Amino acid sequence: MAVTTFDHGGNLFAVARQLGLKPQDLLDFSASINPLGMPVGMRRAIIDQVDQLVHYPDAGAQPLKEALAAYHHVSPEQVCPANGSTELIYLLPRLVKGERALIIAPAFSEYAHALEAAGWQVAYHCLSPSDGFALSLPLLERRLAEQYDLLFLCNPGNPTGALCSRADIDAVQALCNDFGTMLVLDEAFIDFCGEDGSATLSVAGSGNGIVLRSMTKFYAMPGLRLGYAITDAETCQRLETVRGPWNVNALAQAAGLAALADERFREQSVAYVAEQREAMIRQLTAVTPLTPFPGGANYLLLRLPAGYAAGELCRKMLGRGLLIRDCSTFAGLDGSFVRVAVRTPDENARLIATFAELFC
Ligand SMILES: Cc1ncc(COP(=O)(O)O)c(C=O)c1O
Repeated sequence: MAVTTFDHGGNLFAVARQLGLKPQDLLDFSASINPLGMPVGMRRAIIDQVDQLVHYPDAGAQPLKEALAAYHHVSPEQVCPANGSTELIYLLPRLVKGERALIIAPAFSEYAHALEAAGWQVAYHCLSPSDGFALSLPLLERRLAEQYDLLFLCNPGNPTGALCSRADIDAVQALCNDFGTMLVLDEAFIDFCGEDGSATLSVAGSGNGIVLRSMTKFYAMPGLRLGYAITDAETCQRLETVRGPWNVNALAQAAGLAALADERFREQSVAYVAEQREAMIRQLTAVTPLTPFPGGANYLLLRLPAGYAAGELCRKMLGRGLLIRDCSTFAGLDGSFVRVAVRTPDENARLIATFAELFC
């Protein structure tokens, strides 16, 4: 049976439905979610909150805002919680006056969807696999001279996993300031690299930048939805006026508060994912002809050997119960790339053994 090509990873329910399977019959390597699952205390907090669902949620999510502000060492007036960071991506065209955006690619497809739906023109600045998707500041400067109102940069890159240093992001912010372009820094996966790699503070304090953070990946709650923006107080105030009321439900607010309190979970997750990712790179390189790109996140971009196509590989993997991400729909990539999540050692071993079997 032909299976629809989706524009995102994580379409577990739709793919299972199309194949007449139950979601639990498939192992989903297409969505990049913390393999340790939810923190235990967060799960308990969600369950404890159920009786409060008879009330509307705290419309300003004030306790969560204050906890996020304390976590990031900013003021609560600089934090805007949201129904996943995707909600913020869709609010940006209403927040910023303009019509031209530049996206550093390959990148999350929702940036372009949200901008185009609001009538913006979208251009891409494509990084190259030949140098590991490194960002060249002189080349970016040349593009920014074409005058854009918004620049989207995701760090670590998705689907590449490539990491920009904080110094480079500060340099990008300086370029944006020179050209009058607002920087949107998407740090959806930065928790997996540890907070030291984050440029949240400098970008949010620049007066011309906004940082998008997601809690759905690191705290394993994509089905609940929680993200937030950090920016200067004035931009944050405007963001509050364009968002809808009760945008963060009561369970998500309770989950966010419990998640932030769990320092141990953060340390364990960073160490676990780094260890499994490096083990996967070693095994993939040893027993398959796939080339993993080194990355700092909980996923790996893999290049296929010449003569193989991502779509066909994904279909064959799906036939063996494994869902992986075909990257041919990303601007700047073609059909020679797939992305896989870092999961548990047994699950990763099954993925790699299946790749090895298909390529032998
Ligand atoms: C790079 C990137 N940014 C943002 C998001 C949105 O995350 P959420 O809306 O679940 O917070 C995603 C989701 O896959 C993503 O890959």
